[in-house]
This record gives sequence, structure tokens and C-alpha cells, in this order.
Amino acid sequence: MKSILITGGAGFIGNHVVRLFVNKYHDYQIVNLDKLTYAGNLENLEDIHDKDNYTFVKGDICDAPFIDDLFIKYQFEGVIHLAAESHVDRSIADPLAFVNTNVLGTVNLLNSANAAWKEDMDGKRFYHVSTDEVYGSLGSEGFFLEDTPYDPQSPYSASKASSDHFVRAYANTYKLPVVISNCSNNYGPNQFPEKLLPLCINNIKHNKPLPIYGKGENIRDWLFVVDHARAIDDIYHKGIIGSTYNVGGFNEWKNIDIVRLLCDIMDRKLGRPKDKSKELITFVKDRAGHDMRYAIDANKIKNDLGWEPSLQFEEGLEKTVDWYLENTEWLEHVTSGSYQDYYDKQYKA
Ligand code: NAD
Ligand code: DAU
Repeated sequence: MKSILITGGAGFIGNHVVRLFVNKYHDYQIVNLDKLTYAGNLENLEDIHDKDNYTFVKGDICDAPFIDDLFIKYQFEGVIHLAAESHVDRSIADPLAFVNTNVLGTVNLLNSANAAWKEDMDGKRFYHVSTDEVYGSLGSEGFFLEDTPYDPQSPYSASKASSDHFVRAYANTYKLPVVISNCSNNYGPNQFPEKLLPLCINNIKHNKPLPIYGKGENIRDWLFVVDHARAIDDIYHKGIIGSTYNVGGFNEWKNIDIVRLLCDIMDRKLGRPKDKSKELITFVKDRAGHDMRYAIDANKIKNDLGWEPSLQFEEGLEKTVDWYLENTEWLEHVTSGSYQDYYDKQYKA
């Protein structure tokens, strides 16, 4: 059996990647290493937690001896690295937490992989999952390509850019077999409700204000999370060693327009009068250094690996809303306790 380490598998994207690999590759032993921060939730994995080819390990990627031991114990042939601090607003409040996990944690993993594999790199693969935010902010024209120069603008994107540089440096210096992808905004089931879409779904449900930063004119390129997991599968198995792949939805939306569409869907599903939830839209102070537009050119992965998004956006958003309306316990669990403290501080309620 091939043993593969997936980090951050209890988080939003990670749980969809773990599920896909556990269900699709019965000859792989999938080890999910997660610290279970506020963003990690084992409830995301209840449907697969007792499968024979799945193991959960609670631990911190910043703990170097622990990670070294894990490589010895499980003899990993591959790593898919998703563990990170992922929320831009939190990075503005506490940049060092992002340096620790995203930079030091990634370098720890690289060191352990390098030490374990240095005698024989054959068949090994270190896959680093990154973000389109490393490329900075676009104006109304143009797209991010794989060779767009890095220009990160927030502590979060600076930490992810730094981790990408370390991954490439280990490929160059130690010949570690790496592959990197940079993806646009994901949406879908299991996303922690600090991010725009699940936060608005939760607030519409509870008739609370929908906080839109600035004028709501910032643009993001949205991709359904299961399509990202499919891309990760393709890149892990078919991506060329040393390459980078941009992953995106070919699907740009202004924040205000996406929230209006969400209001329409929620009103219909909740049996509210048309346009009722739009009354909750509230323009609030802009995010500091708010990137204007992200837009991915995903033609390389489309042409070279045959990947493309499988869902139309409206269909994906309907599925997402249905999931949140059906999974009330999940939402209640993650929005109780420390979430409330974060929310009150961030939005000064
Ligand atoms: P998330 O915040 O939902 O999950 C992160 C997971 O990492 C959590 O389960 C958390 O417990 C775990 N974790 C955090 N610190 C850890 C540590 N020190 N040791 C072990 N585990 C730790 O994040 P996400 O949205 O699922 O993003 C996953 C990855 O994909 C990140 O690297 C992120 O930068 C990248 N990414 C996210 C998006 C997006 O739209 N969400 C888009 C592109 C790329
Ligand atoms: O582009 C990929 C990135 O997408 C990932 O690397 C990050 O991990 C992920 O969090 C996401 O970053 P964003 O900052 O784009 O996502 P967020 O959901 O926080 O915000 C989306 C847009 O909505 C952004 O322009 C800010 C705005 N926004 C966000 C929140 C939380 C609001 O207007 N109000 C809000 O309350």
C-alpha cells in the first residue's frame, strides 16, 4: 500500500481531498495530519473516519521531531500539504501566527520529507497547495498565469508566497520532487463561516446584517471545492515534477453581486418574500489593503491535464446553500464559543 500524508485534512478543502482519495484509491493508506485549530473539524470526516485505508493523527506541522517521527513510522511516498492559517482578516490581526504555520510549518515538512527521501527520491512527490493571492491584485484587465511575478499584498498572501518560494528552493537545492498549485476562491460545503459565502448564509438564516467591505466591488474567481479536490487529484497524479498549475473557476463575480444572488437563493429556499434578505446588506469599513481583483487563467491545467470545473456556479451555490440548511448541527457547533468572540471583534458588534 502507498502511504500518503495529507496535512490540514480536517479543514474546508482538506476534508474534500481526503474523502476523494480515501474513496477512490483503496490501495493508498491516507494519513490525515491536522492540529485541529478553530478551522479544523473532525465532524467534516464522519462519513469516512472508520475506513481501513484512513488514519487521523492530531499534530502540529511546526513540531519538527514529531513530523520526522511520522515520516519514519508511516514511510510516506507522497505529501499533499494543505495545512495553513487561511483567513486574510485574521492575518491582518495576527501576522505571526501565519508566519509560524504557513512558513515555518511548511519548511519543517520539507525538511522531514527531504531527510526521509534523500537516498531515493524515485516515485516520491511533495505537493504544496497554494493560492492565487500570491500574485497580488489585478485591475479590471488581465489574468494570473503560472509565470505572473509574485506580488503578495496581505500577511496571509506574503506567508503563502514565502512557503511557495521555500518549496521551489528545496526542489532546486535538494532535488526534492515538488509540484505546486495556486487556486482561486473556493466555496462549498464545510467552509468555516468566517469566509464571505458561509458567513452570509449563516447571517441570512438568522436575519443578521451582511457585512460587505467597502463598496462590494472587489472581484473574486469562484470554484466549487469538490472541483478543486478533483484538480488536486489530477495534479498529484499527472502533474509534471517541478511544475506549477493555476486552478480557477473561469467564474468572476463582484462581491455585491454574489451576495445578491445568494440572497435570492436563500429567500426562495426559506420561503421569504422576494428581495427580503437584500435588506440585510450593510456596507462596512473596507479590509485594510483589500485586493481588488483575482482572476486565474486555468488553461494550462485544462490543456495539459484535461481538468475543468464540472459545475455551473448557480448549481454549485444551490448545493452549498442546501448543505448549510440541512447541516444545522454542524453550523451550530462551529458558530458557538470562540467563533462568537472572533465575530464580535472583527465586526465590532
Ligand atoms: P482551512 O483554514 O479551512 O483549514 C486549514 C486546516 O489546517 C485546518 O484543519 C487546521 O486545523 C489545519 N492546521 C492549521 N494549522 C495547522 C498546524 N500548525 N498543523 C497542522 N494542521 C494545521 O483552510 P482551507 O480553506 O481548507 O485551505 C487549505 C489550503 O488551501 C491552505 O493552504 C490555503 O492557503 C489553500 N487555499 C485555500 C483557498 C480557499 O479558497 N479556501 C483557495 C486557494 C488555496
Ligand atoms: O483567492 C484564494 C483565497 O480566497 C484563499 O487563499 C484564502 O484562503 C481564502 O480565504 C480566500 O480569500 P479571500 O480574502 O478572497 O476570501 P474571503 O471569503 O475572506 O473574502 C472574499 C471577498 O469578500 C473579499 O473581497 C473580502 C470580502 N468580504 C469578506 C468577508 C469575510 C466582505 O466583503 N465581507 C466579509 O465579511
